Formats: sequence, structure tokens, C-alpha cells
Amino acid sequence: MKAIVCNEYGPISGLEFAELDDPVPGPKEVVIRTEAIGVNFPDGLLVQGLYQAKPPTPFTPGMEAVGDVVTVGSEVTRFKPGDRVGTVGQLGAYAELVKAHQNAVMPVPTGVDAGDATALMCGYGTAHHALKQRAQLQPGETLAITGAAGLTGLAAVEIGKAMGAKVIAIASTEEKRRLAIAHGADAALGYDNLRDALKDATGGEGADVAFDVVGGEVFDALSRAMAWKGRLLIVGFTSGTIPKFPVNLALVKGYALVGVFWGSFTQREPQVYAANMAELMNWYVEGKVKPHVEAVYPLKKAADALEFIHARRAVGKLVLKP
Ligand SMILES: NC(=O)c1ccc[n+]([C@@H]2O[C@H](COP(=O)([O-])OP(=O)(O)OC[C@H]3O[C@@H](n4cnc5c(N)ncnc54)[C@H](OP(=O)(O)O)[C@@H]3O)[C@@H](O)[C@H]2O)c1
Repeated sequence: MKAIVCNEYGPISGLEFAELDDPVPGPKEVVIRTEAIGVNFPDGLLVQGLYQAKPPTPFTPGMEAVGDVVTVGSEVTRFKPGDRVGTVGQLGAYAELVKAHQNAVMPVPTGVDAGDATALMCGYGTAHHALKQRAQLQPGETLAITGAAGLTGLAAVEIGKAMGAKVIAIASTEEKRRLAIAHGADAALGYDNLRDALKDATGGEGADVAFDVVGGEVFDALSRAMAWKGRLLIVGFTSGTIPKFPVNLALVKGYALVGVFWGSFTQREPQVYAANMAELMNWYVEGKVKPHVEAVYPLKKAADALEFIHARRAVGKLVLKP
């Protein structure tokens, strides 16, 4: 099979498009022929050696894939060849064939487009878990979202609306803000004077829930524009700066700083995870959420897609097709 290989940690451009042996499933594993493969910001961190996990090289990056099961191990009970499925893991998805443990595989209904399904997995899965379990977002609350035209940010816009919140999208360009509004945001702001702009947009109260993927100075501004009993969600640090937090801010506003780690959530709470994914797939079929797939790249151009994301140019989801 053809696959993308990271031979050593370094620039994204060093990724190789190579011929590898076809994977053989272990007893509880399935092999999936990929129809669409999701590209994610952390994939680019991983191949540069900038992610918390550092797998031994060589490895094939890629977290999520959708396609048909082609072979199953002798003890697989949940799937059979021909089933349409998706899988999320840490590695291995940038390939024509992907091997996964049956517990890391989920059915993908025929009405769900394969590219959209990749977005629903990690991007929408993260935003959904963050807003539902971690923030316990309530109808009528104000929700501020940074990086709001990115994958998880735009997912948070749609899911926030589906949960009945008033959504304030925050993004760096007019084009990105327009996209967030088109996906349901009630208002859109840039990053300039963010603290004051957010206070103005919330009648002086601040945000009940903030969903932050950027970190750095953007996080600092959010941390000073939270409402009484708010929840400030820590999702990512695309700015490259992990902020420091003066805890007196939380005391004065009685608000909580809430960590979000979707990968650990899927491992530690598999039943809640499965229920979340079923809810998301239903919302998709009902038209409540519709991922924005900006571009589809051939698998061999995976490095171009990753570089586009890391240059801060991408909106919504980028997908690879073998
Ligand atoms: N905690 C979790 O469980 C979890 C799960 C998934 C992803 N994440 C993390 O969440 C973050 C966002 O992921 P994503 O998939 O939404 O990424 P994405 O689609 O690339 O969007 C990220 C957004 O961050 C903003 N940004 C600000 N500074 C940036 C920079 N220097 N380079 C690139 N983007 C920058 C951009 O929006 P503006 O231009 O509008 O600022 C961009 O749209 C990543 O750090 C990822 O690792 C965390």
C-alpha cells in the first residue's frame, strides 16, 4: 500500500510518500481501506517533534480515517468486511490501508459523507465533549470561541448553536469571521482589544463559557473577560505560547478553568464517547451540524495540507483522499 512516512523528526516537508507492506490485523483488529483521511493540526506538531507524544521513527502520521472494513482478525465481533466505519487513533491514518483495534472503530452511517465524517470525529468530537461534559453549556449562555474558523473552533460554533448558546466567534480575518457567521455565530470579533470587545459584546458581563484554542495573549484577554460562574475551556495553544494564569482572576469572578483532553476522554470514558459520537452523527443527519471541508488533497500531498494548516491559512477541515 501507499502511505506517508515520517522517517525522522523535522520539517513537515520531509514527509515521504512511500510503498509499505499491507497491514495484517491482529486477533481483535480490523483493516480499513480508506476513503477519506482527516488532516489535523496536531499531526503537524507530531512530525516536527513538537507534540507531547514522540513515537519512534519511522512512523505514518494521521489520527482519523473513514472507509470500508476489508479484513478482520479472528476475535473481531463488532465488524465484518464491507462495513462502513471510521477510526480515530494517534498514528497510521495517512495510508491506503489502516489497522485499528475494534474498540477504536465506530460505524459511519451511509448518509454521512466520508470527508465530513473525518471532521465529526476529532474536531467536532473535541468541541462537543468540551461544551457538553466539560463546560456543561446551558441554553441562553454566551459562548466565546477563538480560532473560530478553524476545525475545532467552527465545530464549537455549530455545536454551541445546537445547544442553544449565544455564540461570539473570534477570528483573525474578515473572511474567517464571515465563515463563522455563515455557520451560525451571532456575532464575530477580531483579536484587537479583545477583552473590551468581549465585554461590550456581552453587555459588560463577560462570557459564560470561553473555548480557547490559541493560548498566549488571546487566553490572557479571555481570562479577563469571563462572567460570574463562567467556564474557561483550555483546548489548545496554536499561538505556540502556553499562558500563565493569575488565579485571583478566577476567585474574583467565581469562574473555573477547565481542561479539555479529548484523546484521554475517549480512552477513559468509552461509553460517554460512544454516546457523544452517536449524538453528533444524528445531528449531522438532522442538519444541525455540517462540517466545512475546505479542500481535498491527494494522499501524496499530505505535507502541503499540513503546511497550509500550520501557516494559519486553513479554515474548517482539510481531507486527504488516497
Ligand atoms: N484538547 C484537545 O483534546 C484537542 C483536540 C483537538 C485539537 N486540539 C488543539 O486545538 C488546537 C486547534 O486545532 P484545530 O484542529 O482547530 O486547528 P486549526 O483548524 O488549524 O485552527 C486553529 C486556529 O488557531 C488560530 N491560530 C492562532 N495562531 C495560530 C498560529 N500561529 N498558527 C496556526 N493557527 C493559529 C487560527 O485562527 P485565527 O487565524 O482566527 O486566529 C486557526 O484557525 C490545536 O492546538 C490542537 O492541537 C486539542
